[in-house]
Amino acid sequence: MDMRQRIAGLAGEMLAAAFPEAQGLPEDLAALLEVPPDPAMGDYAFPCFKLSKALRMGPPMIAKKLSESVQRPDIARVECVGGYLNFFFNRENFAREMLAAIMQAPEKWGSSGEGQGKTVCVEYSSINIAKRFHLGHLSTTVIGNSLKRIYDFLGWHTVSINYLGDWGTQFGKMICAYKKWGDKETVEKGGVDEMTKLYVRFNEEAKLDPALEDEGRAWFKKIEDGDEEALSIFHWFKDVTLRDAMKVYDVLGVQFDSYDGESVMAGKTDRVVRELEEKGLLKDSDGAKIVDLEPYDMPPYLILKSDGATLYATRDIAAAIYRKETYHFDQSLYIVAYQQDLHFKQLFQVLDLMGYDWAKDQCKHVAFGMVSYEGQAMATRTGHVVLLDELLSRAQEKALAIINEKSPNLDNKPEVARQVGVGAVVYATLQNNRIKDIDFWWDRALNFDGETGPYVQYTFARCCSVLRKAPEITAAPDYAALTDDEAQALLRLLSRFPEAVSEACLRNEPSIVTRATTEIAKAYNKYYYEHRILDDDPAATAARLQLTDAARQVIKTGLYLIGLDAPERM
Ligand code: ARG
Repeated sequence: MDMRQRIAGLAGEMLAAAFPEAQGLPEDLAALLEVPPDPAMGDYAFPCFKLSKALRMGPPMIAKKLSESVQRPDIARVECVGGYLNFFFNRENFAREMLAAIMQAPEKWGSSGEGQGKTVCVEYSSINIAKRFHLGHLSTTVIGNSLKRIYDFLGWHTVSINYLGDWGTQFGKMICAYKKWGDKETVEKGGVDEMTKLYVRFNEEAKLDPALEDEGRAWFKKIEDGDEEALSIFHWFKDVTLRDAMKVYDVLGVQFDSYDGESVMAGKTDRVVRELEEKGLLKDSDGAKIVDLEPYDMPPYLILKSDGATLYATRDIAAAIYRKETYHFDQSLYIVAYQQDLHFKQLFQVLDLMGYDWAKDQCKHVAFGMVSYEGQAMATRTGHVVLLDELLSRAQEKALAIINEKSPNLDNKPEVARQVGVGAVVYATLQNNRIKDIDFWWDRALNFDGETGPYVQYTFARCCSVLRKAPEITAAPDYAALTDDEAQALLRLLSRFPEAVSEACLRNEPSIVTRATTEIAKAYNKYYYEHRILDDDPAATAARLQLTDAARQVIKTGLYLIGLDAPERM
């Protein structure tokens, strides 16, 4: 039941009744409808300003004439305020219809078939081999996971891609360092940390002995040429890195359909270079090959280095074409930090110049801001690095301490601590518009009372607890019990949840779901504090329990869509 559409339909009927001759009126009345900032001004407001020209009448007069026309049982009253026509629902009717609509398929509330038959590629996480999973990769992982869930929920076919950073001369250097100073057992045990140490040592020693650089390059050349030893060490580095990353993905509940990364695309760049050449797009620049993007006010896109090596850019061109040809996507999303803005603008422009006209419409860089940790910026080179697995372990420890204090008798405490601790981190990442920088603070993220993951989870558990304690009721719900302001506020938010999900998808902005879910949790708590749910009157109790159940389900869906679990007790 879409109240916006219904009010728009009603407004249309009113227009037809009041102005039967009118022409040139806006077609999409639903888009004109506004939600008044204060519910005392109505559930929806219909602004008459855009009708003024076609009807040759001032907006307040239009509103007045409209309000005289149609009467309907689901609308309690309409009021004219300035150029607005404010609609007030019939509260009892609204509660009945709304809850009937949700309870018909509660877990599907907010889902739709709008993506039916369409495919979206969502690239996220895209970690680099032999590097630790640090806070910088948290946002891409968490935003991407949420977007994948949102698109799925709206009926799209989704393909999730972890575009591994597994190509480049640094792997030659690392092998070189390993051959000189490393040993198998230490790397197996120390994992990525050990590889990082080797890489750091390589760079330090190379400052004193520049010949090392050549050796590193030679090892990379061996990887490229398929040398057996080089490849086996390289693959082993990859396995060790992914083994660590999988632990983080498991804790977060994140999965991928494909791990095809840069090394796979490196094998597909010949065709890209050939095509660019044939289409006359390649230019020489000091021995290197570039695509000139000056007409588009962008620096040149570097395709081949003077030694013939491909670049990040070259591989991204190959990857975009590969995804199109393999998955036939209708949209292809890249969840990557805003620092790479220019890179993606160039990429889509070059694809367009190559004649791939889908690139500009269908490929999107979904950018996000930086994460700092308790006021300190992240820096990968200087050593102040917050590691994601450590952050998640600490989150779980801290959540466990809080649970031990608040609910010492809870079953299954470690699992709930995982859900709550991880939830706190994920929620903090998806709380604000993705483009905003985030400063992560423990106190803020784990506060059970603020706008946090644990707060929303706690509200879900509260709904579960109310329903567990409820007696068996056979009486039919009396919806007149839900006409108070608090119940109506909650119902209004529940009714708008589907719009929030659609908009989150349209704008690739999970925070819209975070906010909608948090608002529902807040509204439920307000309702819970101001009303007795288990009343003496069974019919009133039945209605309040149904409202609780609807809130419970929609909060659960909202949490799921942003990647959080919903523990039933905490
Ligand atoms: N691996 C890169 C990094 O960690 C991100 C890759 C982004 N995706 C892409 N298609 N270029 O910075």
